[in-house]
Amino acid sequence: MDPRPIGVFDSGFGGLTAVRQLRRIMPSETIIYFGDTARVPYGNRSRDTLLRYARQDVAFLRSFDPKAIVIACGTVSSNCLEELQAENKVPILGVVEPTVRRAIAATRSGRVGLAATRASVSSGAYERLFHRLAPAVEVVSRACPLFVPLVEEGRCRPGDVVIETVAEEYLGPLRGEIDTLVLGCTHYPLLREVIGRVMGPEVELVDAGAEAARAVRDLLEERDALSGGEDQGQARYYTSDQTEQFLRLAPLFLGEDVTGRAEQIDITRY
Ligand code: DGL
Repeated sequence: MDPRPIGVFDSGFGGLTAVRQLRRIMPSETIIYFGDTARVPYGNRSRDTLLRYARQDVAFLRSFDPKAIVIACGTVSSNCLEELQAENKVPILGVVEPTVRRAIAATRSGRVGLAATRASVSSGAYERLFHRLAPAVEVVSRACPLFVPLVEEGRCRPGDVVIETVAEEYLGPLRGEIDTLVLGCTHYPLLREVIGRVMGPEVELVDAGAEAARAVRDLLEERDALSGGEDQGQARYYTSDQTEQFLRLAPLFLGEDVTGRAEQIDITRY
């Protein structure tokens, strides 16, 4: 048993979709979340910039002596996972592998879509792993660069003409072509209903945050490192920009209020 916290980070709110699952499937774990809200979005940045940001994000979380760190960000997972794992002793998990494994198990037609940020798609990380684990699966990728800024503005509900138009433009061409769509960015589960309407009910949507949460549970179980406690675990939230917008939008992602548990920090110190 290991009572230490699990560290989780993302560019902004998206990683909270992973935290929601972590809290659902491992309610007694303590969670430390960092959202780099001063530098979001990550999805259009160069690999060098992503690595610099991600190293600081990890250094901040390491100050809590976590037992594992979850990169709850498809963009950082796609571009920086190996470096971060090589540089740190603490186990670091990304979203790409668990998500790809789930999509391979889900597809019947062998035609899978990938919706992700521009930096994730251009890294080729998802496609490479599909190719390695299931060479027969055909992957059609779509970069969706406007999704993250719109979600960060809370523009994610069905009936919002802006998000519906953008979703149709990005993903409409995949309708009828695939039976499984990877939501390869942790912001996208907030668009599940909007994307579901574009794709139709027969397309299974695979949620990167939820799959990463299951992978963490498996790892901690395997290492006998679950908290073992019976009380509800604490969750604390840190952001690099002011917390007002975070306090307003976090409940949407998390399904719980975070008042009194969010704090701004200076990430450039790490
Ligand atoms: N949630 C991040 C991801 O999974 C969003 C990246 C961004 O900030 O653009 O890729």
